[in-house]
Amino acid sequence: MIGPKAIIHLDRLIHNYHEIKKHVGGVPLMTVVKANGYGHGAVPVAQALQKEGVTFFAVFTFEEAKELRDNGIIGDILIFSRMNHEFVEAAADLNITLIISHKEDIEILLDLFQRTHKRPKVHLKIDTGMSRLGIPLEDAQNILNKLMYSPEVDCEGIYSHFATADEGDQSYAKQQFEQFVEVLKIADKMEFPIKYRHFSNSGAILNLPETKLDLIRVGMLLYGAYPSDEVPRLLDLKPVMEFVAPIVTVRKVTKGTFISYGGKYKTDKETNIGVIQCGFADGFPRPWYVDGHVIYRGKKFKIAGRVCMDQLLVDFGDKIPEVGENVLLMGDGEYGSLLAEEIGKNIGSTPYVLFTAIGGRTERVFVNE
Ligand SMILES: Cc1ncc(COP(=O)(O)O)c(C=O)c1O
Repeated sequence: MIGPKAIIHLDRLIHNYHEIKKHVGGVPLMTVVKANGYGHGAVPVAQALQKEGVTFFAVFTFEEAKELRDNGIIGDILIFSRMNHEFVEAAADLNITLIISHKEDIEILLDLFQRTHKRPKVHLKIDTGMSRLGIPLEDAQNILNKLMYSPEVDCEGIYSHFATADEGDQSYAKQQFEQFVEVLKIADKMEFPIKYRHFSNSGAILNLPETKLDLIRVGMLLYGAYPSDEVPRLLDLKPVMEFVAPIVTVRKVTKGTFISYGGKYKTDKETNIGVIQCGFADGFPRPWYVDGHVIYRGKKFKIAGRVCMDQLLVDFGDKIPEVGENVLLMGDGEYGSLLAEEIGKNIGSTPYVLFTAIGGRTERVFVNE
């Protein structure tokens, strides 16, 4: 198929997984494969991780979890989204783990038990400062009490989520962790049986190693990028995705030619303009055109003018590139290296946004070298 390709290097994913494991000293990892494995393809990514021994996965929606189950993922799968009547019974049937993030969620589970005698596994989410989903700190004791005396609810875990773990100033994250520890103390005092206590994510692995607890939820580092530039680069990470697209035509233009929508780019000499078949509808970061480049045969070439929906233009200067050959848009591979972190920094974005945007007509090609 002609068009953009996301070449997914599963061998690099596995390399990163082992790098992280080595770094955290044996604490089990819950590998986060939500949003189609951060744009890398949830099913092949989870399958490759399962082969390496991963037994705990996390996604956001029930549908994402079901897709993993339907494709041979047998380990635990936690879904991060708000519980809903609509899927609790199916989750129980598929052994998918849900979260309790509001007191009303307990009623959903009690109702399910009354009707069906089914008890999906659940983790209790405490809001320590993200202010998104989660039981407010002041309600934690009551909720734990209620769960303690509700055998109809199978609560095996308790967790919270950092808002600023990947930032240089760790004071807010530390405060969040201290509050969570207070909740854990309450649970301990009650002798509430908890199998998994978890808080840490990619940023915390690097910035707050003391927050590891029983399980670490890791996403971004697996895919080979750092969550921000305010974390120490302690791991030998390899970018898993190599995003490329073909040159479909090249035209020589004279000095003073306007290129693409809005006439924002005017050639300052006679030059070769290549048309690359990939646009913002395929997930190419549109703002990158202002100051951005692609890599062709190991060399940088400027993006010329606004990125279009389906195509982008590149100023190759004196070089006449080969039609049909690929340019590297993001990642690392045979064409060169252009990391998501660099693009993100330039356009005020992050690898999280850049990776998960990759889609549209992009074909994912999985390689395991
Ligand atoms: C609740 C939760 N835990 C863990 C993660 C993984 O974070 P990271 O990719 O920074 O490791 C995410 C990702 O957004 C998340 O929403």
